[in-house]
Amino acid sequence: MRTLLIVDDERSVRESFRMLFKNHFHILLAENGEEALKSIHRENIDIILLDLLIPDLSGMEILKEIKKMEYQPLVIVITAVRSIKTAVEAMKLGAYDYITKPFDIDEVRIVVEKADTTLKLHEELHFLRKEVTGKYSFHSLIGKSTPMEDVFSTIMKVADNSTTVLITGESGTGKELVARAIHFQGERKKGPFIPVHCASIPENLLESELFGYEKGAFTGANRNKPGRFSLAEGGTLFLDEIGEMPFSLQSKLLRVLEEKEFMPVGATRSKKVNVRIIAATLRNLETMVEEGSFREDLYYRLNVVPIHLPPLRERREDIPLLTTHFLQKYCREMHYPMKKVSPQAMEIFLNYTWPGNVRELENTIERIIVLYPGAKEIIPTHIPKNMLLNNEKKDKKKDEGLPTLKEAISNLEREMIIEALKRSGGVQARAAKLLGTTRRILRYKIEKLGIN
Ligand SMILES: Nc1ncnc2c1ncn2[C@@H]1O[C@H](COP(=O)(O)OP(=O)(O)OP(=O)(O)O)[C@@H](O)[C@H]1O
Ligand SMILES: [Mg+2]
Repeated sequence: MRTLLIVDDERSVRESFRMLFKNHFHILLAENGEEALKSIHRENIDIILLDLLIPDLSGMEILKEIKKMEYQPLVIVITAVRSIKTAVEAMKLGAYDYITKPFDIDEVRIVVEKADTTLKLHEELHFLRKEVTGKYSFHSLIGKSTPMEDVFSTIMKVADNSTTVLITGESGTGKELVARAIHFQGERKKGPFIPVHCASIPENLLESELFGYEKGAFTGANRNKPGRFSLAEGGTLFLDEIGEMPFSLQSKLLRVLEEKEFMPVGATRSKKVNVRIIAATLRNLETMVEEGSFREDLYYRLNVVPIHLPPLRERREDIPLLTTHFLQKYCREMHYPMKKVSPQAMEIFLNYTWPGNVRELENTIERIIVLYPGAKEIIPTHIPKNMLLNNEKKDKKKDEGLPTLKEAISNLEREMIIEALKRSGGVQARAAKLLGTTRRILRYKIEKLGIN
């Protein structure tokens, strides 16, 4: 049973809360600040209902005191309706939530239950991570920074329902990994996980790819073909690069989300589906909505639960952990003994900006292992030169070491696109034609490769 501390100077309030919660919590009472602090330091308290207006110490001071503790209970502050500003301040100081006097009993109950659920999720999360996947990993997602902790707990919260999730973040931040974690953490793991990369399927094929077609829908359609929505029945459909979905298809997608049914190309009747949608994009959909290239209604329908993956440079505390993880992974794969990283090399990793995020870190480690198989320790001379020129333009003539195949392809793509843009005077449609691709795919690549 969890412990709930009720801090209020009014006896009637303390008593009514005690009655309300005594069956679900071990209850402690305090009528002033001094008593409250004593309890807080002596007992293991999980949730505190804290009146901000109590004699002696102010509620705010108690809140500050709590924030210094290692194990922090969740604090729900109580304020008068008139002083809502204090509630906001308390939230800034880290209070979990607030309720206002005069009380609405249902509201009090709901807020306390919510805090209880939050604690349960935290515990489950820690249990899972320790028991199943090692200390700082969750479905092969590694991280211990606060933003990654938040991502893990959101995944836990949404895994078992079918809410639509929108994952945003730069290239290589782990969007697909998060989508998979949501699927495999929840009930839907029994069903399929079907990814669709919206940018790489030509516009004219995307509709039939998603919704399938019926025999006779167009020349060559000599049988019924199920689309990805049908394939994902009972599971999850991952719409990667949703920002590249053509405007015309966006309304059809919206319809599936709203009515849970879709129309195969050439069909006369719609089909019911039971799929969960997870979408991802590296574009800023809000800007696209403002510019009119993304439907606002679809954006809101997708963005029910947003998950943002910050770039690696904004969560540097994850770098050592990820480095060790990838070292283990590739040393094991290639049957080498585990390598160490010298403090000087780690310093460089920690200070580099990682424009390619986790993917770039992974590639860097893999490449060092391949190029220096005998080294027991990674030292600065093993690190690709361009990483040493932090924030400066990348050294084009990489005279040391080979780029990975993926990097080489990206480099070639980048050069070709820049060349085509130059020749077409910057007109994307023309450049796309020169390159034998569509404008949509070109735009996507420009964004992905960071060409400006
Ligand atoms: N937190 C993480 N822990 C472990 N590996 C990670 C993490 N984040 C990303 N990776 C690895 O980095 C690579 C890129 O991840 P992923 O494909 O999920 O990124 P993405 O955001 O979908 O990128 P893009 O926008 O380019 O498609 C993968 O190999 C993935 O395994
Ligand atoms: Mg991806």
